[in-house]
Amino acid sequence: MGGRRGRRLPKAPVEIEIDRLSHEGRGIGQHDDRTAFIQGALPGETVRAEIRRRRRRQEEGQALEVTGGRSADRVDPPCPHFGICGGCSLQHMDTTAQVRHKENTLAELLTHVGGVSPDRWLVPLTGPTAGYRRRARLGVKYVPRKGDRVLVGFRERFSPFVADIDSCHVLDQRVGALLPALAELIRGLSIPDRIAQIEVAAGDAEVGLVFRNLRPLESTDRTALIDFGDRHGVLIFEQPGNESTVAPVGHAASRLHYRLPDFDLDFAFAPTDFTQVNADMNRQMVGQAVELLAVEPHSRVLDLFCGLGNFTLPLARQAAEVVGLEGAESLVERGRENAMANGVGNVRFAAADLTALEPTAESLGGVIDRVLLDPPRSGALEVLPAIARLRPGRIVYVSCGPSTLARDAGQLVHEHGYRLAAAGIMDMFPHTGHAEAMALFTR
Ligand SMILES: C[S@@+](CC[C@H](N)C(=O)[O-])C[C@H]1O[C@@H](n2cnc3c(N)ncnc32)[C@H](O)[C@@H]1O
Repeated sequence: MGGRRGRRLPKAPVEIEIDRLSHEGRGIGQHDDRTAFIQGALPGETVRAEIRRRRRRQEEGQALEVTGGRSADRVDPPCPHFGICGGCSLQHMDTTAQVRHKENTLAELLTHVGGVSPDRWLVPLTGPTAGYRRRARLGVKYVPRKGDRVLVGFRERFSPFVADIDSCHVLDQRVGALLPALAELIRGLSIPDRIAQIEVAAGDAEVGLVFRNLRPLESTDRTALIDFGDRHGVLIFEQPGNESTVAPVGHAASRLHYRLPDFDLDFAFAPTDFTQVNADMNRQMVGQAVELLAVEPHSRVLDLFCGLGNFTLPLARQAAEVVGLEGAESLVERGRENAMANGVGNVRFAAADLTALEPTAESLGGVIDRVLLDPPRSGALEVLPAIARLRPGRIVYVSCGPSTLARDAGQLVHEHGYRLAAAGIMDMFPHTGHAEAMALFTR
């Protein structure tokens, strides 16, 4: 054990018994005095696995076949590229079992990290398990040696290479079905080796594809891109430098759109703006958040990490006033545009770094009785004392990082006198190990 020799990868596949699942859904077992994390293996199973990475106390690998105790939760993966492509990690698990696992993970984190448990569990929010993904960053790789090919897709699971895929089960099918055509398009450009990635951003009616071009496009490239956009009904953008350089190619549309029908709201966004990945789940999520916050006509609401107003504008339909704070100036601007376009007058947006700024009742124009927060994965620890000083009666915390939610829930309950009244998961990213969660805190 130990030393460099001990870290050499086994040459042949090894057999491992799996006794539990890691939070992100890998099977955990013991092998060679190490804890093994095996992709594609389920508890109770014995699998033959290839070890792909090894450290002193841990190793990681990929299940090749189940040799014993096949789990009742095991299903045939719906995508032929599952196991190689790194985009998904749970397709071998029944979707109901995936949701159950994500809920168990949240419960465990709340207990062990936060020292809290909710008074009530919310029924998990679930939606479509295929074709749901409206945002993605697709890698592009020109491989002249393999017959002058271009690969367009997600990275492979255990390598930095772009996976050789011709379809994708989870991408919005308006884009998933285009992968081979996109590869052909790039192969025919004058700079097939200088397209670093394609950013996918789809709205309800439009699909935007942002080509990150490391060299200027030739006029023949522009013609090919415009022709592709026309033929497939997608909006092409180029991005020759940083995000501010994104520009339409062959059209004048700079915005895509999504709708929240329950609130009669239309949102416009630029293709590189933050928007929620799964539109169906977003509609459910916003509806549940507004309901849990129990906004009253006299309520003044604070929406932190508000982005382009995805929760701010729906809340404003029911509250006296909503103040939205957000770090990215461009999103603050988009929030204002969206409020104006939807005739919503009772919102104010401002730019603020919420790890540094502490909003107060004075700076927010008076008493705040409801707070919604939707921070990035790193959570909202820094702003919690300021929220507590506002003494809102209800706080709804929307989270894309259950472990930071658990940490922050512990703070709100143990340091600031809140109750964790309810919590639940939202299956925003089926077939991946990624879980979103929502929690309601009351005074
Ligand atoms: C999970 S997104 C939520 C956005 C919005 N609520 C929505 O549903 O579309 C998190 C947001 O936090 C913003 N953000 C990240 N770090 C921040 C910070 N330190 N201060 C303020 N906002 C920040 C990001 O720009 C992003 O818009």
